Amino acid sequence: MFRSSYILIFVLLVGAIAQRDKKFFRKDFKYIEETQSFYKIHTIAKNFEDANEMCEIEGAQLFYPNDDTEANAVISYWNLTQPFDVVFIGISSQIVNGVFETIDNIPISDVYNKWESGEPNNAGGEENCVQLKKNGVLNDVSCDYKYAFICKKTLASLQWNKYCHMPNMDYEYSERTGKCYKFHLKPANWAEAYAKCSWEQGYLAVADSQTEADYLKEITEKAPKDNIKEDYLSGAVLLGFHNRGVKLEDSGYSTWGNAQPDGGAKEKCGSMFYNGQLNDINCDSKALFICEHDVDILGSLFDERFAALETTTETAVNV
Ligand SMILES: *[C@@H]1O[C@H](CO)[C@@H](O)[C@H](O)[C@H]1NC(C)=O
Repeated sequence: MFRSSYILIFVLLVGAIAQRDKKFFRKDFKYIEETQSFYKIHTIAKNFEDANEMCEIEGAQLFYPNDDTEANAVISYWNLTQPFDVVFIGISSQIVNGVFETIDNIPISDVYNKWESGEPNNAGGEENCVQLKKNGVLNDVSCDYKYAFICKKTLASLQWNKYCHMPNMDYEYSERTGKCYKFHLKPANWAEAYAKCSWEQGYLAVADSQTEADYLKEITEKAPKDNIKEDYLSGAVLLGFHNRGVKLEDSGYSTWGNAQPDGGAKEKCGSMFYNGQLNDINCDSKALFICEHDVDILGSLFDERFAALETTTETAVNV
């Protein structure tokens, strides 16, 4: 018994060290060695602006090919995995009509620019965005149309948050709770907040204990809330409980604010007053919110980046 656990631990450590260089961004992105970058093909069509925003939320950028090599590599992957024929790319002429630039302001002449013959034609004077077709050519289209799109992250731009075991540097580790948090200053309704947290690989925060409730209250107080221009319901931040999922009483912290919950069927979503007490809220109300990300200390050894490790471990056990 002693011997086998000894061997197991040894293999784990060796495995972890051996895998340390493995290139990893997020589970949903695919690394392409040729271009030293990670890609994710989004199959739900979005307009240009929303596609752009989605990639940013995922910590990436709306893809455009830099050159022939990248166009070929990415289209090959696309051909292998998806049926649709066109994607939006991160090039537009929204600033000056007819002058196409990448989303990071590089003139199109300096990147891949194989237009389809007769394009760009700015049909109807409305075509300020660009689609890439499977056969490798570009065409100008309206930015309001919806297409699939691809997000890209270069290996060179990848930063690893080693305290939180994730690529997002906005998350902060709390020693008191052993978890990571990000306070969002862009107001959202409950469903949007829930989705944003999960796109960031977190979840809408829930207080599991008095300690965590105190911590959430503290980061809420400290957050720079004064300069938010948008309209939103101030005084409460959205939290990840609602009147269907996790029963609040089972979550470890259920101190309601004075006379709360009071909204009945109109207020089915969860929030916390800035003073740390819980409040039911209308699911359509826009408010600030907190995302949370679990950090499993042992999990750092079993980090997704080290996925090959588990195979190694099993082999060791069988021996
Ligand atoms: C991808 O598929 C299209 C359409 O079938 C084809 O024209 C193109 O050559 C393929 N490109 C690559 C790089 O595989």
